[in-house]
Amino acid sequence: MTSLSPRSLLTAVLGAALALPLTAVPASAVLGGAPASTATYPWLAAVGSPVFFVRPSGQFCGGALIEPDRVLTAAHCVTLFRSVPGLLTATFGRDDLTGTGGETVAVKSVRIHPEYRETSFKDETVGHHDLAVLTLARPVNRRTAALGTPGPARTGWIAGWGFTSENDLFNTRLRAARAPLPGNAACERAYGDSFDPSDMVCAGSAAADSCQFDSGGPLIARGRVVGLVSWGYGCGRPGYPGVYARLDSLP
Ligand code: ARG
Repeated sequence: MTSLSPRSLLTAVLGAALALPLTAVPASAVLGGAPASTATYPWLAAVGSPVFFVRPSGQFCGGALIEPDRVLTAAHCVTLFRSVPGLLTATFGRDDLTGTGGETVAVKSVRIHPEYRETSFKDETVGHHDLAVLTLARPVNRRTAALGTPGPARTGWIAGWGFTSENDLFNTRLRAARAPLPGNAACERAYGDSFDPSDMVCAGSAAADSCQFDSGGPLIARGRVVGLVSWGYGCGRPGYPGVYARLDSLP
């Protein structure tokens, strides 16, 4: 016999309440994805801070290990921490942020792309050259990510711990989705001059997109990281793909 404790009841009620919107949204992790394992992405970092206690593990962004002590992330994720880099952490190998698996390493310094700047599209902040490199307090013993450009690829993968729909604040599980690379024209149509193909990559659809808290995480094509989650108008809205920071010039 199982006892119906208040705690298990609460878990059941909350679980049902949380599961509902997930099943009600047809293509809702990243939107439109499926649970993924950090074993597939050993270089994938959850970038966060112990001061950001509204999210487990303090996570608010993704990142990619590019050298044993260097993590590439989005500039907009870390601008606030420029003068206090020691408040940032990078966590590797944690499939669910509520757990304690994997390892967390402190950040020693933050370097932001010298041409990083912000404009806006509707209510969204647009990041240009949205790239930053974090130097870790110690090197980690993990495979690093290979970097590249999308080239002729027509699809890619996105991965992150972020929202699975525009109003899901509670996802803590790493998810990944296969996303189309529709080409620059799709983002130019949606965003006009806010989309700059020289430093941005267009990816995703209404069925597969990144969302809040996925920023800084990878867009992968041809086995390489070819962009970092940067911005978009809402998440998964028809006609508004996601925009990713191109990796042509690292900070
Ligand atoms: N700016 C968001 C973040 O900080 C990422 C938004 C990506 N949006 C999109 N539709 N792909 O997490």
